[in-house]
Amino acid sequence: MIEKTLPIVLITHTLPKEWITPLEERCKIFFGPTDATELDPTLIDLLPQAEGLFTLLTIPVTEMVLRKSPKLLVVSNMAVGVDNIDVKACTLRKIPVGNTPGVLTESTADLTMALLLSIARNISSASMDAREGRWKTWAPSGWMGMELKGSTLGIIGMGKIGKAVTRRAIGFGMKILFSDPETRNEINAIQIPLDELLKNSDIISLHTPLTEDTRGMINQSTLSMMKPSAILINSARGPLIDTPALVEALVKHKIAAAALDVTDPEPLPPAHPLYGLPNCLIVPHIGSATQYTRRKMAELACNNLLAGLDGKRLPYCVNPEVYSLFDK
Ligand code: GLV
Repeated sequence: MIEKTLPIVLITHTLPKEWITPLEERCKIFFGPTDATELDPTLIDLLPQAEGLFTLLTIPVTEMVLRKSPKLLVVSNMAVGVDNIDVKACTLRKIPVGNTPGVLTESTADLTMALLLSIARNISSASMDAREGRWKTWAPSGWMGMELKGSTLGIIGMGKIGKAVTRRAIGFGMKILFSDPETRNEINAIQIPLDELLKNSDIISLHTPLTEDTRGMINQSTLSMMKPSAILINSARGPLIDTPALVEALVKHKIAAAALDVTDPEPLPPAHPLYGLPNCLIVPHIGSATQYTRRKMAELACNNLLAGLDGKRLPYCVNPEVYSLFDK
């Protein structure tokens, strides 16, 4: 009897074993290190034999990676964003790319609210002051923040996560603005042009994917339209913001504060000037970091990967046009 050889699958990082159980009997798996920021050399050597690539969002899947992977049948990203992947190059090679939409909507919206509340109410600096002995009395004018009820939240990117943040913010009594031209106004929010949103919002929260159109959309010019009291929140992708322009705006108090779950570069090196600014709160890309969400993301990524290996349609595919290419 001819022994069936299992397809070779490269997983860019070492993941908890129980997250990838569905792959174990179906593939021969090779892992990269837990903290990989680029494709590990041992995996690069295996690219010529790989039929499946399971990636995290820190690993670029470039034209060069694809060129070294002639047998590749599927790229499965354990993330909703796929800006780390050259999707066009995958499509040209008829390789479907999978992502994990939906399952991280609520956890990312929760984290956005956590950032919003923390920065609006000075939680991290007030906590530090308490720990370090600067809490001398009930300070009538100390640690004052923004009253959320009645304040205006501008959402840039009214997709699933933008809507989930909107639902939460309405619960806090906030008025919501958004600017996406084609979003039907099925939520209780006011649609206005982007420059009006920038001028009128007390808090601006980014939820748009990173594309060539949105890269650097928050820059010197758009920052200068914001109120000097404005707070900027980014739980989407770091490069939506021009980082040097943000540093300047925070140093010169052109805006009041920023809270970032994502940065550019990412990770932000320890000596970066943003860390030195008391009006900037930074956490290490933890929007989807709950037990439930990360398990679900891994499950969807495994399902996409297995479907791709089997030549079936991926349950969540960002370039479904590959299937019409197959039909031709
Ligand atoms: C997280 O940032 C994701 O895109 O899933």
